[in-house]
Amino acid sequence: ADPAALTAELLAWYDRHARALPWRVGPAERAQGVRPDPYRVWLSEIMLQQTTVPHAAPYFLRFTETWPTVSDLAAAPDDAVMAAWAGLGYYARARNLLACARAVARDHGGVFPDTEAGLRALPGIGPYTAAAVAAIAHDRPAAVMDGNVERVMARLHAVETPLPEVKPVLHALAARLTPEDRPGDHAQAVMDLGATICAPRSPACGLCPWRDPCAGRAAGIAETLPRKTPK
Ligand code: ADE
Repeated sequence: ADPAALTAELLAWYDRHARALPWRVGPAERAQGVRPDPYRVWLSEIMLQQTTVPHAAPYFLRFTETWPTVSDLAAAPDDAVMAAWAGLGYYARARNLLACARAVARDHGGVFPDTEAGLRALPGIGPYTAAAVAAIAHDRPAAVMDGNVERVMARLHAVETPLPEVKPVLHALAARLTPEDRPGDHAQAVMDLGATICAPRSPACGLCPWRDPCAGRAAGIAETLPRKTPK
Protein backbone atom coordinates (compact mmCIF):
# COMPACT_ATOMS: atom_id res chain seq x y z
CA ALA A 1 0.00 0.00 0.00
CA ASP A 2 1.25 3.49 -0.64
CA PRO A 3 2.26 5.67 2.32
CA ALA A 4 -0.49 8.26 1.78
CA ALA A 5 -3.23 5.61 1.90
CA LEU A 6 -1.72 3.96 5.00
CA THR A 7 -1.52 7.29 6.83
CA ALA A 8 -5.07 8.25 5.87
CA GLU A 9 -6.42 4.96 7.27
CA LEU A 10 -4.39 5.35 10.44
CA LEU A 11 -5.46 8.97 11.07
CA ALA A 12 -9.13 8.11 10.49
CA TRP A 13 -8.75 5.37 13.13
CA TYR A 14 -6.95 7.77 15.50
CA ASP A 15 -9.71 10.37 15.14
CA ARG A 16 -12.16 7.79 16.48
CA HIS A 17 -10.02 5.83 18.93
CA ALA A 18 -7.23 8.07 20.27
CA ARG A 19 -6.72 7.49 23.97
CA ALA A 20 -7.67 10.52 26.07
CA LEU A 21 -4.41 11.09 27.95
CA PRO A 22 -3.75 14.00 30.31
CA TRP A 23 -0.95 15.42 28.15
CA ARG A 24 -2.93 15.29 24.93
CA VAL A 25 -5.04 17.96 23.27
CA GLY A 26 -8.55 16.62 22.62
CA PRO A 27 -10.23 16.57 19.19
CA ALA A 28 -12.36 19.70 19.79
CA GLU A 29 -9.36 21.84 20.75
CA ARG A 30 -7.30 20.28 17.98
CA ALA A 31 -9.93 21.30 15.43
CA GLN A 32 -9.44 24.90 16.61
CA GLY A 33 -5.71 24.70 15.98
CA VAL A 34 -4.62 24.27 19.61
CA ARG A 35 -1.16 22.65 19.84
CA PRO A 36 0.05 20.62 22.81
CA ASP A 37 2.34 22.51 25.21
CA PRO A 38 5.97 21.42 24.51
CA TYR A 39 6.67 21.35 28.26
CA ARG A 40 3.84 18.87 28.85
CA VAL A 41 4.86 16.74 25.86
CA TRP A 42 8.49 16.65 27.01
CA LEU A 43 7.55 15.82 30.62
CA SER A 44 5.17 13.04 29.58
CA GLU A 45 7.67 11.50 27.16
CA ILE A 46 10.44 11.43 29.80
CA MET A 47 8.05 9.76 32.26
CA LEU A 48 6.85 7.27 29.63
CA GLN A 49 10.41 6.06 28.96
CA GLN A 50 10.35 4.97 32.54
CA THR A 51 6.93 3.44 33.01
CA THR A 52 3.51 2.69 31.57
CA VAL A 53 0.77 5.19 30.67
CA PRO A 54 -1.48 4.27 33.66
CA HIS A 55 1.41 4.53 36.13
CA ALA A 56 2.74 7.80 34.69
CA ALA A 57 -0.60 9.65 34.52
CA PRO A 58 -0.95 10.58 38.24
CA TYR A 59 2.72 11.67 38.37
CA PHE A 60 2.18 13.82 35.33
CA LEU A 61 -0.88 15.47 36.89
CA ARG A 62 0.96 16.15 40.16
CA PHE A 63 4.00 17.60 38.41
CA THR A 64 1.97 19.92 36.19
CA GLU A 65 -0.23 21.08 39.09
CA THR A 66 2.83 21.88 41.19
CA TRP A 67 4.91 23.26 38.31
CA PRO A 68 2.64 24.46 35.49
CA THR A 69 5.50 25.74 33.29
CA VAL A 70 9.07 24.70 32.59
CA SER A 71 10.26 27.87 34.33
CA ASP A 72 8.34 26.86 37.47
CA LEU A 73 10.02 23.46 37.37
CA ALA A 74 13.41 25.08 36.78
CA ALA A 75 12.95 27.17 39.93
CA ALA A 76 11.93 24.20 42.12
CA PRO A 77 14.27 22.94 44.83
CA ASP A 78 16.05 19.70 43.87
CA ASP A 79 14.58 17.88 46.89
CA ALA A 80 10.99 18.71 45.94
CA VAL A 81 11.46 17.38 42.41
CA MET A 82 13.23 14.23 43.57
CA ALA A 83 10.43 13.61 46.10
CA ALA A 84 7.75 14.08 43.43
CA TRP A 85 9.63 11.65 41.18
CA ALA A 86 9.81 8.95 43.90
CA GLY A 87 8.06 5.82 42.62
CA LEU A 88 8.99 6.43 38.99
CA GLY A 89 12.48 5.04 39.57
CA TYR A 90 15.81 5.72 37.95
CA TYR A 91 16.73 8.98 39.61
CA ALA A 92 19.33 9.94 37.02
CA ARG A 93 16.36 10.69 34.79
CA ALA A 94 14.89 13.10 37.37
CA ARG A 95 18.27 14.85 37.70
CA ASN A 96 18.42 15.23 33.91
CA LEU A 97 14.84 16.47 33.91
CA LEU A 98 15.75 19.28 36.25
CA ALA A 99 18.96 20.07 34.35
CA CYS A 100 16.95 20.29 31.14
CA ALA A 101 14.26 22.54 32.66
CA ARG A 102 16.98 24.86 33.98
CA ALA A 103 18.74 24.98 30.60
CA VAL A 104 15.45 25.86 28.86
CA ALA A 105 14.72 28.57 31.45
CA ARG A 106 18.26 30.00 31.48
CA ASP A 107 19.36 29.65 27.85
CA HIS A 108 16.05 29.73 25.93
CA GLY A 109 13.89 32.15 27.91
CA GLY A 110 11.61 29.31 29.06
CA VAL A 111 10.71 28.29 25.50
CA PHE A 112 11.62 24.81 24.23
CA PRO A 113 13.52 24.74 20.90
CA ASP A 114 11.23 23.69 18.05
CA THR A 115 13.66 21.56 16.02
CA GLU A 116 15.05 18.08 16.66
CA ALA A 117 18.61 19.43 16.59
CA GLY A 118 17.83 22.20 19.06
CA LEU A 119 16.09 19.75 21.37
CA ARG A 120 18.95 17.21 21.13
CA ALA A 121 21.34 19.82 22.50
CA LEU A 122 19.48 19.83 25.85
CA PRO A 123 20.43 17.58 28.81
CA GLY A 124 18.62 14.23 28.88
CA ILE A 125 17.02 14.65 25.46
CA GLY A 126 18.04 11.83 23.09
CA PRO A 127 16.79 10.94 19.61
CA TYR A 128 13.48 9.54 20.87
CA THR A 129 12.45 12.52 23.01
CA ALA A 130 13.65 15.07 20.44
CA ALA A 131 11.57 13.43 17.70
CA ALA A 132 8.53 13.07 19.98
CA VAL A 133 8.53 16.74 21.06
CA ALA A 134 9.25 18.01 17.51
CA ALA A 135 6.43 15.91 16.07
CA ILE A 136 3.77 16.12 18.79
CA ALA A 137 4.26 19.70 20.00
CA HIS A 138 5.46 21.35 16.78
CA ASP A 139 3.95 19.09 14.12
CA ARG A 140 7.30 18.47 12.46
CA PRO A 141 7.65 15.31 10.33
CA ALA A 142 10.05 13.54 12.72
CA ALA A 143 9.95 9.72 12.92
CA VAL A 144 9.34 8.80 16.56
CA MET A 145 10.84 5.36 17.27
CA ASP A 146 10.09 3.30 20.34
CA GLY A 147 9.45 -0.40 20.94
CA ASN A 148 5.81 -0.07 19.92
CA VAL A 149 6.66 1.61 16.63
CA GLU A 150 9.38 -0.98 15.87
CA ARG A 151 6.88 -3.79 16.40
CA VAL A 152 4.20 -2.16 14.23
CA MET A 153 6.69 -1.52 11.39
CA ALA A 154 8.17 -5.05 11.57
CA ARG A 155 4.67 -6.54 11.29
CA LEU A 156 3.23 -4.18 8.68
CA HIS A 157 6.20 -4.92 6.38
CA ALA A 158 6.81 -8.55 7.50
CA VAL A 159 10.42 -7.77 8.39
CA GLU A 160 12.02 -10.99 9.68
CA THR A 161 15.55 -9.72 10.25
CA PRO A 162 16.05 -9.66 14.03
CA LEU A 163 16.53 -6.77 16.43
CA PRO A 164 18.77 -5.03 17.18
CA GLU A 165 20.46 -5.16 13.73
CA VAL A 166 17.23 -4.31 11.95
CA LYS A 167 16.59 -1.08 13.84
CA PRO A 168 17.85 1.24 11.07
CA VAL A 169 15.61 -0.54 8.56
CA LEU A 170 12.55 -0.12 10.80
CA HIS A 171 13.46 3.51 11.34
CA ALA A 172 13.63 4.09 7.57
CA LEU A 173 10.24 2.41 7.10
CA ALA A 174 8.71 4.62 9.80
CA ALA A 175 10.28 7.74 8.28
CA ARG A 176 8.88 6.86 4.86
CA LEU A 177 5.38 6.65 6.37
CA THR A 178 5.59 9.95 8.26
CA PRO A 179 3.25 12.42 6.54
CA GLU A 180 3.72 16.16 6.01
CA ASP A 181 0.14 16.68 7.20
CA ARG A 182 -0.50 15.92 10.91
CA PRO A 183 2.85 14.21 11.63
CA GLY A 184 2.28 14.66 15.38
CA ASP A 185 -1.04 12.82 15.30
CA HIS A 186 0.49 10.18 13.03
CA ALA A 187 3.29 9.53 15.56
CA GLN A 188 0.85 9.24 18.44
CA ALA A 189 -1.45 7.04 16.37
CA VAL A 190 1.33 4.52 15.64
CA MET A 191 2.20 4.44 19.34
CA ASP A 192 -1.45 3.95 20.33
CA LEU A 193 -1.81 1.21 17.73
CA GLY A 194 1.21 -0.58 19.17
CA ALA A 195 -0.02 -0.15 22.75
CA THR A 196 -3.65 -1.15 22.24
CA ILE A 197 -4.08 -3.32 19.10
CA CYS A 198 -0.70 -4.44 17.76
CA ALA A 199 0.23 -5.83 21.18
CA PRO A 200 3.29 -8.07 21.65
CA ARG A 201 1.05 -11.11 22.37
CA SER A 202 -2.34 -11.83 20.77
CA PRO A 203 -2.63 -8.72 18.61
CA ALA A 204 -6.25 -7.70 17.91
CA CYS A 205 -5.79 -7.74 14.13
CA GLY A 206 -9.55 -7.73 13.51
CA LEU A 207 -9.75 -4.19 14.95
CA CYS A 208 -6.65 -2.86 13.19
CA PRO A 209 -6.94 -0.11 10.56
CA TRP A 210 -3.96 -1.76 8.80
CA ARG A 211 -5.31 -5.33 8.83
CA ASP A 212 -5.61 -5.44 5.01
CA PRO A 213 -2.21 -3.97 4.08
CA CYS A 214 -0.37 -5.80 6.92
CA ALA A 215 2.17 -8.16 5.31
CA GLY A 216 2.91 -9.88 8.62
CA ARG A 217 -0.74 -10.76 9.07
CA ALA A 218 -1.06 -11.96 5.46
CA ALA A 219 1.91 -14.28 6.03
CA GLY A 220 0.48 -15.52 9.35
CA ILE A 221 3.58 -14.42 11.26
CA ALA A 222 2.52 -11.06 12.77
CA GLU A 223 2.60 -12.27 16.38
CA THR A 224 6.15 -13.66 15.98
CA LEU A 225 7.53 -10.25 14.93
CA PRO A 226 9.79 -8.49 15.58
CA ARG A 227 12.34 -11.28 15.85
CA LYS A 228 15.21 -10.87 18.29
CA THR A 229 18.76 -12.12 18.23
CA PRO A 230 19.19 -14.31 21.33
CA LYS A 231 21.45 -12.65 23.91
N1 ADE B 1 4.09 6.14 24.67
C1 ADE B 1 5.06 7.05 24.79
N2 ADE B 1 4.68 8.24 24.33
C2 ADE B 1 3.40 8.08 23.90
C3 ADE B 1 2.46 8.95 23.30
N3 ADE B 1 2.76 10.22 23.06
N4 ADE B 1 1.28 8.43 22.96
C4 ADE B 1 1.01 7.13 23.20
N5 ADE B 1 1.83 6.28 23.77
C5 ADE B 1 3.03 6.75 24.11
